[in-house]
Amino acid sequence: MKVKVSRKAHFNAAHRLYNPDWDMEKNDAIFGLCNNPNYHGHNYELIVGVTGEIDPETGFVMDMKVLKSLIKKEVEMALDHKNLNVEVPEFKNVNPTAENIAIVIWQKLRPFIKQEHELEITLYETPRNFVTFSG
Ligand code: NI
Repeated sequence: MKVKVSRKAHFNAAHRLYNPDWDMEKNDAIFGLCNNPNYHGHNYELIVGVTGEIDPETGFVMDMKVLKSLIKKEVEMALDHKNLNVEVPEFKNVNPTAENIAIVIWQKLRPFIKQEHELEITLYETPRNFVTFSG
């Protein structure tokens, strides 16, 4: 029987959404306030889900202490209180939308999750807008 275990986390980050191939007018039309050249911040809420069989020896799918420290080390240290466009290399040429941030988080965590486990990232950019990526 497969069970999904999830851990919530949180980080603050600044970003600007724009396409360098477009002029300011088109960027404003598509991205609105998110195109502010001086950046703006979000309080991101993250849910990391790991799905797999229960280990008969522990009764766990995954040790949540391990998941907690993985998220801290690989995600929070990399993104918390950062300007995503300027300070996070993954977004040098990638627009830091919630979609792309979720993919980057998945890619950062995937190598540390057991092969046989599924990894699902849910990222809230606002309390009402969220994206999900599971590879
Ligand atoms: Ni924004």
